[in-house]
Amino acid sequence: MFPGVLIPVLGLTGPTGAGKSAAAALLRDMGCAVIDGDMLAREVVQAGSPVLTALADTFGSDIVGSDGALRRSLLAERAFADAAGRRTLGEITHPAITALAVRRAALVSPQSRAIVVDAAALQESELAAMCDWLVVVTAPEELRLRRLLARDGVDASAVSLRMRAQRGIPYVAVSDPAEGITVIENTGAVEELLAPLGAVLRQLDKVREEKCAVEDAGKRVIAPILNRYTCRDFNPEQALSEDQLHLLTLAGLAAPSAMNRQPWRMVFVTNRAQLAEMDVYGMQMLAAQADRGTYERLQARGGTVFYHAPCAVFLAVEGNAAVDCGILAQSIVLTAATLGIDSCICGLAGQCFAGERGTEFFARLGVPEGFSFGLAVLLGHAKQPGTPHPLDYGKASRIA
Ligand SMILES: Cc1cc2nc3c(=O)[nH]c(=O)nc-3n(C[C@H](O)[C@H](O)[C@H](O)COP(=O)(O)O)c2cc1C
Repeated sequence: MFPGVLIPVLGLTGPTGAGKSAAAALLRDMGCAVIDGDMLAREVVQAGSPVLTALADTFGSDIVGSDGALRRSLLAERAFADAAGRRTLGEITHPAITALAVRRAALVSPQSRAIVVDAAALQESELAAMCDWLVVVTAPEELRLRRLLARDGVDASAVSLRMRAQRGIPYVAVSDPAEGITVIENTGAVEELLAPLGAVLRQLDKVREEKCAVEDAGKRVIAPILNRYTCRDFNPEQALSEDQLHLLTLAGLAAPSAMNRQPWRMVFVTNRAQLAEMDVYGMQMLAAQADRGTYERLQARGGTVFYHAPCAVFLAVEGNAAVDCGILAQSIVLTAATLGIDSCICGLAGQCFAGERGTEFFARLGVPEGFSFGLAVLLGHAKQPGTPHPLDYGKASRIA
């Protein structure tokens, strides 16, 4: 999986001379973007790069020329001398190559049908596992050698060095569609690659559909977050269904808390008489306060703490658990928004639990000893739909 990339990724690999580059060219013609592993491998060892320094520390400082550039043939001679050298070379270069491939993949146009990561040593790096499909282009060694030597201006010793270097790469030999692996034996004309590559692309079209479905699901989560608003005028006649109450209960129980202690209790109250009694008492407590500002504000809104909500969830907390309680409330509220239920997180409901009658209400709700009021969540359906508050971008910053 390439993080954040919705375009399917095809890993293209195979030994030199098998026809990997021809396959890459065909895939490009079929609408794919090709990321060339050789180019990435060159980029990460540029003069002055940390990877080059690490290579020099391991394979000898003379692999860096007086101009600061990598002496590739000297590195190849040393690194490919044995299996351990090759492994060490991979351990030093592959993480940087992978990171660069991920960055390049993120820049590919969404119009591309697939991203092709073309690399001979793909299977030796973590990139192979990140691809949605692996295509291995192979051909018998003597045919590959013949093809390579037939190329213009070829250096026979460079060819044999490359072939030797690749000998230890564990190329997959058998196709396995369930694992997303296609092996193409390329012994004929280039055009014969078209059919198997087309078949792979059709598989990747399905992968793309799945990835887009996941992204749509992601958008379905953000939508209720952005559309939620506090309701202060519920329709008392529109009660919540049993199914809705059940899902809201599950949402609360699934809420995260420090060390998963969940130091709270949730009590869902839909009993009208109980809610009305508590509401009247809450308003009385507010009226008795020296500062009558809140009381008057609520009076102007209809003289109620609960805004006629048909359901209130009282959250009682044990000890100092305000943060856990807030997260619990938000889990309920966002689930409500997902279900099309309006809500109000209500701190003022704490007034109902003040004084002597408050203790009585706690007992009636079955809240255990030692718990105190945390928050309430009012739930129901708004008489008039509201609007979400404007976003204040000044409250968020980013340091990249
Ligand atoms: C901890 C907390 C306590 C709140 N208590 C009350 C309350 O008692 N009464 C009320 O009308 N709204 C209450 N609210 C709702 C906020 O006033 C509301 O979230 C804020 O005005 C932003 O509006 P919005 O929710 O529509 O985005 C509370 C919100 C939070 C997070």
